[in-house]
Amino acid sequence: MKSKVKINYDVNGKIALVTGANRGIGKAIVDALVSKGATKIYAAVRNLNTAIPLVKRYGSKVVPVELDLAKPETITATAETANDVQVVINNAGIFIASTPMASDAIDLLELGMKINVFGLIRVAQAFAPVLKINGGGAFVQLNSVASLKCASNFALHSASKAAAYSITQALHQLLGQQGTAVLSVHPGLIATDMSDAAGLAGLAEPATLVAEGIIAALKAGDFHLFPDSMAKRVGSAYQSFSESIIEADISEYGAH
Ligand SMILES: NC(=O)c1ccc[n+]([C@@H]2O[C@H](COP(=O)([O-])OP(=O)(O)OC[C@H]3O[C@@H](n4cnc5c(N)ncnc54)[C@H](OP(=O)(O)O)[C@@H]3O)[C@@H](O)[C@H]2O)c1
Repeated sequence: MKSKVKINYDVNGKIALVTGANRGIGKAIVDALVSKGATKIYAAVRNLNTAIPLVKRYGSKVVPVELDLAKPETITATAETANDVQVVINNAGIFIASTPMASDAIDLLELGMKINVFGLIRVAQAFAPVLKINGGGAFVQLNSVASLKCASNFALHSASKAAAYSITQALHQLLGQQGTAVLSVHPGLIATDMSDAAGLAGLAEPATLVAEGIIAALKAGDFHLFPDSMAKRVGSAYQSFSESIIEADISEYGAH
């Protein structure tokens, strides 16, 4: 089986867009992009006021734009405004702490799919043509170890993140054909409001690990990134399956 072609991508001198840029991992990604030489960063946020601290810190290098994954019109409008973007990082997402046995399981999973999966598809559809026009660029999706291993108490979250990972694999193949590097990021436990909400803050590691990991993984042309200690354990167990199946060209089986 052949491996797919790697695209090595350096963010230095590039124009980027980060969804959910105002806090948590998204904010750390903005910091890392600035420190690694990105020239402009669109901070895509639901509420423009939440990007004010980034503008205060970085001046005109950071351009706030409104993007709500639940409002498709804000995604298409942003792709028209940010038409010079070369690196799109879809970081925004929601966490759903519930199980398939909950009485509102269907409603909660619908919400998770709407934000974590339909949001990803809409961002990819809106920005793929922009990335193509701007030379291919890079598309990064924040998935999770929960995309690979279901924790029963967060099963609905895992289901949405597993679906997002599946879509990311398709994007790897499809956007790769236009020269776009695609990276699937799988954090374990990172210290943000999200890990607080999950009641797991004590074990969490800094968001800089994810942000700096993304920049290094793009440079190396990797498809997966497992940035923190817990994620690395999952990533090392997954490596052989990934190399022989996920990242391999298995077109002899009729799969593309
Ligand atoms: N923290 C972890 O341990 C961990 C582990 C694995 C994966 N991840 C993934 O990493 C990504 C970032 O997580 P985080 O820990 O930084 O989360 P967080 O602290 O909860 O921040 C979430 C970000 O997403 C934005 N957001 C939420 N709903 C949105 C919507 N409908 N449209 C646009 N933006 C929306 C939030 O904006 P507002 O401020 O407006 O709410 C915020 O900027 C997520 O995709 C998450 O699943 C995190």
